Formats: sequence, C-alpha cells, structure tokens
Amino acid sequence: MGMRYDLEGKVILITGGSRGIGLELAKMAVEQGAKVAICARKQEGLEAARTALEAIAGAGRVMVMATHIAEADQVDRLFEAVLERFGQLDVLINNVGMNLLTPSLTDSDPALWKKIIDTNLNGTYLCSRRAAQAMRERGRGKIINISSVAAHRAEPGLGVYGVAKAGIEALTRVLAVELAQHNIQVNAVAPAMVRTGFSAAFWSNEDIHEKIVSAVPAGRLAEPADVAHAVLFLASDAADYITGQTLLIDGGRTVASL
Ligand SMILES: NC(=O)c1ccc[n+]([C@@H]2O[C@H](COP(=O)([O-])OP(=O)(O)OC[C@H]3O[C@@H](n4cnc5c(N)ncnc54)[C@H](OP(=O)(O)O)[C@@H]3O)[C@@H](O)[C@H]2O)c1
Repeated sequence: MGMRYDLEGKVILITGGSRGIGLELAKMAVEQGAKVAICARKQEGLEAARTALEAIAGAGRVMVMATHIAEADQVDRLFEAVLERFGQLDVLINNVGMNLLTPSLTDSDPALWKKIIDTNLNGTYLCSRRAAQAMRERGRGKIINISSVAAHRAEPGLGVYGVAKAGIEALTRVLAVELAQHNIQVNAVAPAMVRTGFSAAFWSNEDIHEKIVSAVPAGRLAEPADVAHAVLFLASDAADYITGQTLLIDGGRTVASL
C-alpha cells in the first residue's frame, strides 16, 4: 500500500510470525528496513516464512526460532538467542493468539480455560517481561500486544479467549505505566475478524461471511495488512508519546448501533 514508517535498523521480535497477521507484519517490517526475528511452534511454518522473508531482505536481517510462548524456559532461550544474534531488542510484538471454541464459560472444561489463558495471556506476559528487561538497559523500546474485539464484547464461542484478551489489555496498561520512566511504550490493537487461517471457518462460509460483514459499517472484513499498518505505526518513533492505549481495528463495528 506504499505507507512507510522508518524502521531502519530496528530489531523487531514478532511472536507467531509464521503465518497470518504475524507474517504480514514481518514482511512489512523487513521491507521497511527492520531486522526481524519470528517464533512459532512448528519448524515447517517457520522455514516457509524464512524463505518468504529472506526473498525480501536477505539472510542477514531474518531470524526464526521454534518456541512455545507459554513455556518460560523456551521464552528465555528465545530472548537470549535474539539478543545474541542482533545485539538489542527495539520492539516486541506479542502476536500469538489461539482459540478453541468454547461453550458458555460455566460449561467450559477448566483444562480448556487453562490452555487458552496460558497461550494468550501468560505467553504475552512471559515475553513482555523478558522484553522489558532487555529494553530497560537501553532506555527505550516498544511492546505492542494483539488483542481482539472479543475483549470488548461477549462473542459466542470466544468467552475464554475474550477474557484472556481483556487481560492482555489490562497488562498493556499496567506495563505502560510501569515502563514509561524507562522510555518504553506499551500499546495494544484489537482487531475484529481478519481474513487469516485463524478465522477461516467463519469467513470461508458464504452465509456466515455475509452475516458478519453486514455488521461492519466499512462493509468488508479486515485484511492482515490493515492490522500490520497500525502495529508498525505504534512500533515506530512516530508513536513515542502514545502509551497504554488499545486501538480498535474493526471498520466501525464496535461503535455502530446496527
Ligand atoms: N484472525 C482474526 O480474525 C483475528 C481477530 C482478532 C484478533 N486476532 C489476533 O491476531 C493474532 C494473530 O492471529 P492470526 O489470525 O494471524 O492467527 P494464525 O493465522 O492462527 O497464526 C497464529 C500464529 O501463532 C503461532 N502460534 C500459535 N500458538 C503458539 C504458541 N503457543 N507459541 C508460539 N507460537 C504460536 C502459529 O504458529 P504455530 O502453529 O506453528 O505455533 C502462527 O504463526 C492473534 O493474537 C489473534 O488472537 C485475530
């Protein structure tokens, strides 16, 4: 789309960067001069993403590492490896998210609750904590968390996920206040449905797609690039005085009375 923020030389770690919004973010970030590290659980997806990113940036600015972000020891190893490879960390984008469709909260299995909270909320906390330690030493940095409109509205099947995302937005505010003195800004974005594999079961069904889009004043679903543009603005020096905020990326859906 031709919109650019100056990310030249910045080191950006994107969790869940092997596909969907994370991969789009990684592509745009390397196009704009950043050095990018991505993690995901599956090596195969990471290798495909590496190939796509190196085609844009060459091998020198790309790193991939298999990591489960809810496992503290794996997160420690990831941050050590990124710092060893690139020498600094300027931006963390906590993009990993997962959902397992849940019945009502009261009917959900506590094991399901734990799994969804672990990956979405605990994983974001573990990564943010390590990033803050590295950024404090340099006296600057940015953390951007990917939330969801499910944190703002009770959506069928997304109950536990919505609670986890609301926790991520609270974490965003707490970290923003704690870290402002170190010149570290912490913000979140909350998209409505984005056309990725994560939500394909909904948007690939014509009837469901029609129903969802009819509730969006903009008249279409979000593309990964719609989210990536907003995140990379928050990652850039242009956003140095913005912290503790959640930006909804929803084509007007949340404010509309439809
Ligand atoms: N798509 C939507 O409609 C939508 C709407 C609102 C918000 N969001 C949020 O946007 C973010 C990105 O979503 P997306 O649609 O791009 O999802 P996606 O296409 O499913 O991609 C998820 C990425 O996260 C990785 N991942 C999943 N669990 C992981 C774990 N435990 N540890 C490390 N990596 C993990 C996946 O790779 P592996 O499977 O190899 O681990 C993949 O790279 C998420 O936070 C999601 O909640 C999405």
